[in-house]
Amino acid sequence: MRILVASRLEQSAIRQLQENHDVICTFDQPTRDLSSLIPDREAVVFRSGVEITRALMDCAPDLKLLVRAGCGLDNLDCEYVRKRGIVLRRISEPAAQAVAEMALALMFALARNIRQADAMLRHGQWAKETLEGHLLAGKVLGIVGAGNIGSRLGVLASTMGMEPIGCIADSTPAVVQTLREKGIKVADFHTVLAAADFVSVHVPLNDSTRNLINGRALSLMKKGSYLINLARGGVVDETALYAALATGRLCGAALDVHEHEGQGQISPLAQLSNVVLTPHIGASTVETQQQIGVRVVEIIEAFVQQSKTIARREADIRVTTGALSNEMVRI
Ligand code: MLT
Repeated sequence: MRILVASRLEQSAIRQLQENHDVICTFDQPTRDLSSLIPDREAVVFRSGVEITRALMDCAPDLKLLVRAGCGLDNLDCEYVRKRGIVLRRISEPAAQAVAEMALALMFALARNIRQADAMLRHGQWAKETLEGHLLAGKVLGIVGAGNIGSRLGVLASTMGMEPIGCIADSTPAVVQTLREKGIKVADFHTVLAAADFVSVHVPLNDSTRNLINGRALSLMKKGSYLINLARGGVVDETALYAALATGRLCGAALDVHEHEGQGQISPLAQLSNVVLTPHIGASTVETQQQIGVRVVEIIEAFVQQSKTIARREADIRVTTGALSNEMVRI
């Protein structure tokens, strides 16, 4: 199969693909650069950081398979994929634990002033008196989007003595019951914001979640609370967040995802000392990426086998039909 690996993928997965396939690897390139590499490709493997647009896919008439090596689909024109009948495989499960653990790491960093402590000590400032933090135990964790990742975070947080409360778009009685069984209270969005000491965001980016955490939402959060965003940059209005942090309404924020991502981008929020910023590394653990790599190879090999089976069946049908028409001629 002719494959374009458009995002960083675990090395041994790339090696395995190269054994059986024609593989081009180019990581995190702008769409215009991908368009010259994609025309003869049959499959594309990608993560966040690249835009798989309709115009790009239009350049690839043989494209049959897209493998999203992660969860989010906001960088893919899904409507076009559906219309053109391109097979889309998404590998969402492995990242859930990594992102949930990262949310905890960011909450700890905020609650214990880890960023400031490290920066000050590197300048010789022994700020023991000014860096008193807070416990996570006993605090309310508000989960906006208590799905696969959000609910996993809720479970981890409750083992540390936090009280998770979450909202979810798909709040059917069965979903609510499952969340309750996991120790997560379920409420509406506004109640979650108002109740929480820490709000962690885990919704996909789409038309209904763009700027979900805007000025109004931030004004509903408890004074002195914290915001953590591991979803997508577009879900949080960063200008409104800047204002909420600068005025002291929020005590701190941690963002792993940003309105503008990529090499050379510096968020205006970097000017604030009560903000922790990381470069979209929620799913970036060795173990997670190994699991994703294994799945990518499995998906591609299964697709190739399936395509061969279909091609064989079609050939059999052609032979049978041919034989019948020959017989008919003889008759
Ligand atoms: C994801 O959606 O899986 C994560 O954002 C990780 C990524 O794609 O880089």
